[in-house]
Amino acid sequence: MSERILTGITTSGIPHLGNYFGAIRPSLDLANSANESFFFLADYHSIIKVNKPKEVAISAQKIAMAWLACGLDPNKTFFYRQSDIKQILELSWILHCVTSKGLMNRAHAYKALKSETDDKGINMGLFSYPILMAADILIFNATKVPVGPDQTQHLEMTRDIANKFNHTFGEIFTIPEALIDGDGESLPGTDGKKMSKSYQNIIPLLSTREELKKSILKIVTNSLEPGEPKDYSTCNVFKIYSYFADNNEIDEFKAAYEEGISWGDAKNKLFELADKHLEPIRDKYFKLESNPQDVIDLLDEGGKKVMPMAEDLLCNVRESIGIT
Ligand code: TRP
Repeated sequence: MSERILTGITTSGIPHLGNYFGAIRPSLDLANSANESFFFLADYHSIIKVNKPKEVAISAQKIAMAWLACGLDPNKTFFYRQSDIKQILELSWILHCVTSKGLMNRAHAYKALKSETDDKGINMGLFSYPILMAADILIFNATKVPVGPDQTQHLEMTRDIANKFNHTFGEIFTIPEALIDGDGESLPGTDGKKMSKSYQNIIPLLSTREELKKSILKIVTNSLEPGEPKDYSTCNVFKIYSYFADNNEIDEFKAAYEEGISWGDAKNKLFELADKHLEPIRDKYFKLESNPQDVIDLLDEGGKKVMPMAEDLLCNVRESIGIT
């Protein structure tokens, strides 16, 4: 059976190196192999947490451009906005009606917030977020869904919901599998904690050379002097370097640590390597940014291509539940 890869990107925040190594690169590798692929901007997911319209719009634009700059080929991959496919919202409601509330009560994302705030400030979108995600996936009969480890439970819920529906109304949905990529998760931010917008420790993916340098200089190190041997295995500069480097470069960098490289020089080496790697992405990004309408058109077209597929599936779903 041919595989259909599908993944969504929540349009909040600006893309950083953690997103690049954790999501963008592994998903593009999959898309560029012989699979059929569907990548979309999960813009209706973003309003669960963000209520600043400008931020939502800018983030969607930057994220779309980041994926294109990193090599997403819109002739090979269906690339669209969730909000353009109204069938997803219709399916989401139908799935709400086969999902038990208890399943949503158990969602980690909801449970974590609930115990902090006792439901205060939790909107129903956050509570039923996994159902919208299930609709995103099931509407296109995806077989494989590449996601980060934090999404494992959501994929299990999607499978649960799909099985429950199929069992009740007939075999409509393909049961998808998660492809978990944990690699980017361990990329540390400038303070050593996991790189994340909420910790304000990110190194942006799309920045000028100067901005890249600035954020690399912020990486926290210890106070060992130049000439003193340093432990690479616990060093954030080294960890980030190793994401960009090949084996030879890693061995050389290890040796430099043992020989007592200064923190300034170590950061500079990281900067030069990262910059070399990111330069083509940056160039492409700035080109896209000078013609934002092209990206808007491209997403409009992507939506038009996939919409009929969503409508076909939804027709079957409606019929199966007796809404004709
Ligand atoms: N919830 C996902 C995240 O935050 C984004 C997402 C929305 C998604 N819908 C999806 C991922 C469907 C995969 C498939 O990362």
